[in-house]
Formats: sequence, structure tokens, C-alpha cells
Amino acid sequence: MLFEFTDQNFLPQSLRAVILGILSLAKRPPFGNYNRFVVDRILRLSAEIGGRVTVIELAAGDAPLTEELSSRESDEISAIIPCDLRPNIERFNYLAGKNSERVKPEYASSDLLDLKPFTKNDLYVCSTAFHHLTPAQKQVFLSIIKALKRPTLICESLRHNLLNHLFALFGFVPGFLYPLFCSTKRQFFTSAFWCWLVPVAPLMFCWDGLVSSLRIWTEKRWQEELQKLDWLDTRIESSAFSQFVWVNCRDS
Ligand SMILES: C[S@@+](CC[C@H](N)C(=O)[O-])C[C@H]1O[C@@H](n2cnc3c(N)ncnc32)[C@H](O)[C@@H]1O
Repeated sequence: MLFEFTDQNFLPQSLRAVILGILSLAKRPPFGNYNRFVVDRILRLSAEIGGRVTVIELAAGDAPLTEELSSRESDEISAIIPCDLRPNIERFNYLAGKNSERVKPEYASSDLLDLKPFTKNDLYVCSTAFHHLTPAQKQVFLSIIKALKRPTLICESLRHNLLNHLFALFGFVPGFLYPLFCSTKRQFFTSAFWCWLVPVAPLMFCWDGLVSSLRIWTEKRWQEELQKLDWLDTRIESSAFSQFVWVNCRDS
């Protein structure tokens, strides 16, 4: 019943790109600081794990974390691999071109439900995407990362509560302003088409935001689900508009 437009195959590629672009905009200044918070957390967790890790940005979309992370100095991170069910090749190429030493995109389709290990020292990060899975698929994904013994950070830029459901409806603000933040002429004209001329992108973005906040697990649900699997270390942290779940099943 509840669906998100960005998951639908009928959506024109250009419209999907604009909606994901609005999402990226909504998570960075002047609208938010979510990506920076997530990257700060990744750096802290990498230091905790020790050794040099490879950060795998799962379900990366436009790979905002790869972009933010690759701009930071860090001895703990040897490489960053963005991947997705529908990889955005053009964007992945752009990010790899900016930092070919560290950014090594996975260009083949990578399904959260059919994950393979990338390196021995993977640190999986799944941001703003876990809620795209059905409850049964979420449990499958958790079993997979447990079996693979990969430490994983699952984060969401919204939470499941009334405040966040209402907040999601304000997504039309970055939605209508998005063309003004585009850096290339091509992006500007495509987004001006979908945001101003045929203004469906801001509306679809609001819908996807509301559905996301309804699909995201509450902290109580997370506790119940994590108890079912015997993890070595789990942490659930929330701020007003975001949620971070850390699961680690490495042998101590
Ligand atoms: C809302 S976007 C978030 C993208 C990005 N993580 C971000 O924070 O901007 C959700 C992404 O999840 C991807 N996705 C959905 N289902 C997936 C699956 N089963 N396996 C891998 N990726 C999936 C979609 O292709 C889309 O790029």
C-alpha cells in the first residue's frame, strides 16, 4: 500500500534524479547537517574498530556520504565504495574522478538482500534506505550482515513519530528551491522543469518523506528486533530528526 516514488520503475530517470537531488539538498546546509553528523560518526566508529576499514556506502543513491567522507582526512579509512541496486554511474564516476585514490565505486547492481563482502575490513553504512525494505526484508538484511560479520551503521534522516511525520511535509521548501542550488546548466534546466514547470518533484518528495517516516522503525521496535539476533554490540541513538543504529557482530 505505502510506496515511495523513488522505488518505482515507471518514474523517468530525470525525475528520480531530481527527487534524490532534493533529498541530498535537504540533508545539508542551509537545510540540515545530517550527512556531516553521519560522517563524524563513521570516523569515530572506524577509529574504535581499529585498523584500516573500507567504508561501503550501501543503497548510496547520489552517494552523499562518499562525497563528504572523501573530503575528510582520515588514516583509518583505506577506501570508500558506494553501491546501489540502481547505481548512478554518472555520479559515481564524478566522485571517483574527484578522489580516485579512495573512491572505488561498485558499478554492478548491489542488492541489500543479496550482499557480498567487498573486502576483509568492510564497514557497512546504510543511510536513509533501510526503510525502503519491508519488515520481512529488514529482518533478512540484519541476518545477512550478522552472517557476514560486518559492523554496520544504519541511519535514517527522519524518525517514526508525529513531529517527524509533520516535518516531512515541509519537504516542499527544499523541493521548490532546489533548481537554485544546481551547479550545472543541465541540472538546472531538468530540475526547473520538474520543480517549477511541471512541479511534481516537490510533491513526490513530500510524499516519499511522509511514507519514509511511517516506515522507519521506532526505537522500541529496533530494541525488539535486535534482541532476536544475538549481537556483540548494539547501540541505538536518536536526535530530534534522525536515528542511528550501530550493530557489530565481529568476534571480540
Ligand atoms: C532515499 S534513497 C537514499 C539514497 C542515499 N543513501 C542518501 O542518503 O541520499 C534510497 C536508495 O536506496 C536504494 N535501494 C532501495 N532498495 C534497495 C535494495 N534492495 N538494495 C540496494 N539499494 C536499494 C534506492 O535505489 C535508492 O538509491
